[in-house]
Amino acid sequence: MSDIQQTVNEANRVIIFDTTLRDGEQSPGCSMNLEEKLKIAYLLDEMGVDVIEAGFPIASAGDWEAVNEIAKVLKNSIVCGLSRATKKDIEASASALKPARQSRIHTFISTSPLHMKYKLQMTPEAVLEAVAESVTFARSFTDDVEWSAEDGSRTEDDFLCQAVEIAIKCGATTINIPDTVGYSVPEEYAAQIKMLMNRVPNIDKARLSVHCHNDLGLAVANSLAGVQAGARQIECTINGIGERAGNAALEEIVMAIRTRNDKAPFHNNIKTEMLTKASKTLSTTVGFNVQPNKAIVGANAFAHESGIHQDGMLKNAQTYEIMTPESVGLKKSELVLGKHSGRHALKDKIQSLGYDIGDNAFQDFFKRFKDLADKKKEIFDEDIIALIDDEVGRDHDHIKFRALQIVAGTEGPQTAEMKLIVDGVEKHTKVNGNGPVDAIFKAIRDIVPHENAHLQLYQVHAVTGGTDAQAGVTVRLEEEGKTVTGQGSDSDTLVASARAYIHALNKLMTKRLKSKPE
Ligand code: KIV
Ligand code: ZN
Repeated sequence: MSDIQQTVNEANRVIIFDTTLRDGEQSPGCSMNLEEKLKIAYLLDEMGVDVIEAGFPIASAGDWEAVNEIAKVLKNSIVCGLSRATKKDIEASASALKPARQSRIHTFISTSPLHMKYKLQMTPEAVLEAVAESVTFARSFTDDVEWSAEDGSRTEDDFLCQAVEIAIKCGATTINIPDTVGYSVPEEYAAQIKMLMNRVPNIDKARLSVHCHNDLGLAVANSLAGVQAGARQIECTINGIGERAGNAALEEIVMAIRTRNDKAPFHNNIKTEMLTKASKTLSTTVGFNVQPNKAIVGANAFAHESGIHQDGMLKNAQTYEIMTPESVGLKKSELVLGKHSGRHALKDKIQSLGYDIGDNAFQDFFKRFKDLADKKKEIFDEDIIALIDDEVGRDHDHIKFRALQIVAGTEGPQTAEMKLIVDGVEKHTKVNGNGPVDAIFKAIRDIVPHENAHLQLYQVHAVTGGTDAQAGVTVRLEEEGKTVTGQGSDSDTLVASARAYIHALNKLMTKRLKSKPE
């Protein structure tokens, strides 16, 4: 590659900053426990994300711990922690990030007239002072400091230029201009980025970043417009999860750049073949299924229903497909195993799917696999993944599912007879309910009372096609403002429902123990 080519390449490199574990996790119903955050962080690291915003360490002991554990294990990505413009926040990020190979402290303060007056109740002068102090303090811990102007897109030009100049002077190496409330339109946002590029005298010493929310459905368009105008970092989340209508979706941004490189001649490190896996893993973890027509990762994104389209596809796939399913990691469901498959074949399959389960967990897993194979003739990759999500890592659960008998149908009462193991002791109950699912949830409540927890979400989906498909169930419980999400899968929807509820309840118990004062 010639020197000129190399310089152009470097100039067109866009940093992908993923905030699924911070802005994404902050949104209602998306909270994750430590194990789940680690799973997502490993995946993002492997996928080639440059910067992973792992959390907001001052927010809670759990947030601090998650950032700290992620900082200990990640091999490639820069690990980032968010902090407001206070010493306490910045110290919490610095201490959590200490073990990281590469770390970044991200500090922010609002700069729009509305936020300064009503939210911060600070004068513009005091805000500028806080920018200088916070960035200088963050730089005393690391050379990699990002500063964000919260509500930046609604900030007056002159004031934003002043704040950005001060942040860079004090050592910020990345300057982020969030469209915090998703209010901007692409032309306007691009003009703002251009304005900063032209007017801030020391702008060449920092990288500009875009962070767009999706309140008007414009987050991806705004992000791309910002990059066209000169920004070289995009902040985004898997499946676009995030506050309110969410953030710009990573998979959409990356595939837009890949597919329309003629118009968006930028490059990044993302292995796009991992996008489908990342989307599915996040969906099952937080219990947020993406809509079927969602770009890139929706169930219909590569489906062709109408006769005319199918005819075109058979003649030449490019007639109706602008990217290949393979480029986003979508493979045809593979028929993998059946009831005659042995331990070796199952172990190989688990490894080829990118999972690693210990020997003890494998014994239980093999039994569940055999039970499933007895009921379901064909077992697909998705079935194995659903079983792994349901089974693995639950050794320490307080409550374990043992057995369920249901009486259902038009002639009531619908009854659930349930056996659970609670802290090693077998417990049994039989209760009536308003339908079988209600009876199951009541039975669990009867054995393990939890009066203050409320059911927020109950969702069922088929893991694969066919009438013998496994059901994947998601249950979300809320207790005193804390939410937890549980998953369960089984060829019987009602058993899957019980498993999902028990999974959520176990998480709630862990959360309660963690929030108890020492
Ligand atoms: O949307 C926003 O303004 C943010 C900042 C904290 C970066 O998430
Ligand atoms: Zn945000």
